[in-house]
Amino acid sequence: MKKTCLITGATDGIGKQTALELAMQGFNLGLVGRNSEKGASVVSELIHDTGNNSIRFHYADLSIMKSVQNLVDEIKKTYETIDVLVNNAGAYFSNLKMTDEGFEKTFALNHLSYFYLTTYLLEIVKHGNPGRIINVSSTAHKNTELDFEDIQGINYYKGWPAYGRSKLMNIMFTYECHRRFSDSGVTFNCLHPGFVDSSFGNNNLGFAKNSIKIAKKLFAIDLVKGAKTSIYLSSSDDVAGISGKYFDKCKAVQSSKASYIEGDQKKLLEATEELINSLQIN
Ligand SMILES: NC(=O)c1ccc[n+]([C@@H]2O[C@H](COP(=O)([O-])OP(=O)(O)OC[C@H]3O[C@@H](n4cnc5c(N)ncnc54)[C@H](OP(=O)(O)O)[C@@H]3O)[C@@H](O)[C@H]2O)c1
Repeated sequence: MKKTCLITGATDGIGKQTALELAMQGFNLGLVGRNSEKGASVVSELIHDTGNNSIRFHYADLSIMKSVQNLVDEIKKTYETIDVLVNNAGAYFSNLKMTDEGFEKTFALNHLSYFYLTTYLLEIVKHGNPGRIINVSSTAHKNTELDFEDIQGINYYKGWPAYGRSKLMNIMFTYECHRRFSDSGVTFNCLHPGFVDSSFGNNNLGFAKNSIKIAKKLFAIDLVKGAKTSIYLSSSDDVAGISGKYFDKCKAVQSSKASYIEGDQKKLLEATEELINSLQIN
């Protein structure tokens, strides 16, 4: 039977490349993005290039939890089972931006959306064969730690540290889910894709945008290489049953010391739950 995979941030970069290759493998795909026109065009392109007709677009602004809840409702109506959820959408914001729901935007997009989709789609991922949840993190998580007095880092906002912390959260969240839901049959893993020549950073202006552009020209790997670990974790039999690991270049590797502190992983989950509950969306 065809497996179903839902990928966030699938309209560009690593997410789109992951979608292309999983489409070629015959997956039934749900592509999540914030731009419906771009989404429709990516769906047509992938169907044309792969001959796989089972590709749909789902709209969500993943930095807004109300929008993520609407997505959850739509996904539950559309699919009985999700075999693979790839939490991939993420961005770096050089300046402090707050969402209409009152969250710092890096934190909302890069962490809260992963948390929200995982939490509210877990029931249907459990029907997967077996279910896999994959969180795209980054080596940028190294040399950062969380500040539970100001979990969103609003009081001293700087773009890169905020991005690094959000990517540390992705790893800590993965490890905590692995422990909490180990009896669910679902596996939880995370990864660093490499420094990839995607559209990453283009949402910024001036120096912040141009410096990333130059670095990408000099050092970045292409999208095909950059999507390899996401595709491996989504579809390879090698990782069936493997859970609670951080991967780089398709190999399980150590993440930072801070990421393994179990008390902090638990605290992060509880703090996130509290913030989400305060929104009273459900
Ligand atoms: N590129 C790298 O070197 C690198 C390194 C380490 C980790 N990563 C991680 O890899 C993941 C993918 O990044 P990428 O490099 O592929 O970046 P990208 O090319 O900029 O793609 C990001 C994707 O996320 C979508 N997105 C952004 N904001 C969104 C929102 N509010 N709601 C819904 N979708 C949204 C974008 O939509 P649009 O198409 O509308 O823009 C796009 O589809 C991120 O989690 C990033 O942190 C990247």
